[in-house]
Amino acid sequence: MLSSADETAGPDRTADVPAGPEISIVVPTFNERENIAELVRRIGEALPGVAWEVIVVDDDSTDGTAARVSELARQDRRIRCIQRIGRRGLSSACIEGFLSSSAPYLAVIDGDLQHDETVLPDMLENLRQGDVDIVVGSRYMAGGGIGDWDGRRARLSRASTLLAQKTLRVVLSDPMSGFFAVRRDVLHGVVRGLSGVGFKILLDIFATAERPLRFRELPYEFRARHAGESKVDGIVALDFLTMLLQKKAGRLVPSRLIYFSVIGGGGIVVHLAAFAAAFHGFSLAFWPSQAIAALFAMVVNFTLNNLVTYRDQRLSGRDWLRGLVVFCLVCSIGAVGNVGVASYIFRGGGAWLPSVLAGLLIGTVWNYAATAFYVWRPRR
Ligand code: GDD
Ligand code: MN
Repeated sequence: MLSSADETAGPDRTADVPAGPEISIVVPTFNERENIAELVRRIGEALPGVAWEVIVVDDDSTDGTAARVSELARQDRRIRCIQRIGRRGLSSACIEGFLSSSAPYLAVIDGDLQHDETVLPDMLENLRQGDVDIVVGSRYMAGGGIGDWDGRRARLSRASTLLAQKTLRVVLSDPMSGFFAVRRDVLHGVVRGLSGVGFKILLDIFATAERPLRFRELPYEFRARHAGESKVDGIVALDFLTMLLQKKAGRLVPSRLIYFSVIGGGGIVVHLAAFAAAFHGFSLAFWPSQAIAALFAMVVNFTLNNLVTYRDQRLSGRDWLRGLVVFCLVCSIGAVGNVGVASYIFRGGGAWLPSVLAGLLIGTVWNYAATAFYVWRPRR
């Protein structure tokens, strides 16, 4: 039997065991195989004499990024890899990287060498001084720059920066920055309130903090991507708007429910169009036309929800097919509930409009909750 001393002893401190790192540098990656070794080399060069570790959080890249990181990690224990399966998202990857760390200071840097790692020592020194909570690399202050971005991307970045500053009252010069270092206790203070959606983890942290964070900004010049390509697309822009909405509206209505409802509303239009095509175009009888239209609308609905509402856990292949079948079953039950509730209220003397709306509300909430559970529940 173990004595109580044994149970609390932990590792043998008499042996020559190095202490844990002072700073964990989280690198979110998706297809950065050709960049990661160079990044780690440069981080090592930038932080001589510092006890650092690099935590790569890879979302199951198709180019073998995680395997490359493991290769590096076998030669150097300061490197670790967290591999996430079936999930996507820069912000949520950073959060998981942070949470896997025990270091007093946490940093994030992109995996494509666009951020200037030589700013890291200055970030660390600022945190060590203890008078700031977070140090942010900024492209939009004297000494910083956006490198060779084309006019369109530059305008987009400026516009979203302005939007973020105005709606969330964040006073940072570069609130969209993906390059910063933060004290561990500050991160842990906000982590349960983070939206975790999309790319803008820094903005998320500032918008979630209950007291204004003490920050310092350090300029850096945004570099050209080393290898590979950017993952920024239309969905990232949508994610950004969702996060603003979430932070403004509080967490009363989940953003997924908003997407789900909007797509469901669009489904009515799809249904009508499909019905018209079957009934008038192909001269089918009424009920087959209605059945085909309902099925078609459900397939379109499922596809859109899989693409947008659940973009971070998209189903594909056999999971997609299984999801579609379950989705149709769940929504059929929702339709029965919808009609049942509406008729019940109507028969009880309700006016037609409130009765119909109540039916829709019940049907939508059921469909949303049940598909979240049975169709898109992360099974891993
Ligand atoms: N784990 C994970 N999951 N990593 C991701 C994902 C994802 O879904 N999407 C992108 N990444 C990783 C990339 O591999 C890269 O290391 C980093 O996140 C940034 O992605 P890019 O696609 O290179 O974005 P960008 O260069 O257009 O924008 C970056 O820099 C801006 C300026 O600092 C981002 O960091 C922006 O948030 C930032 O505003
Ligand atoms: Mn990049």
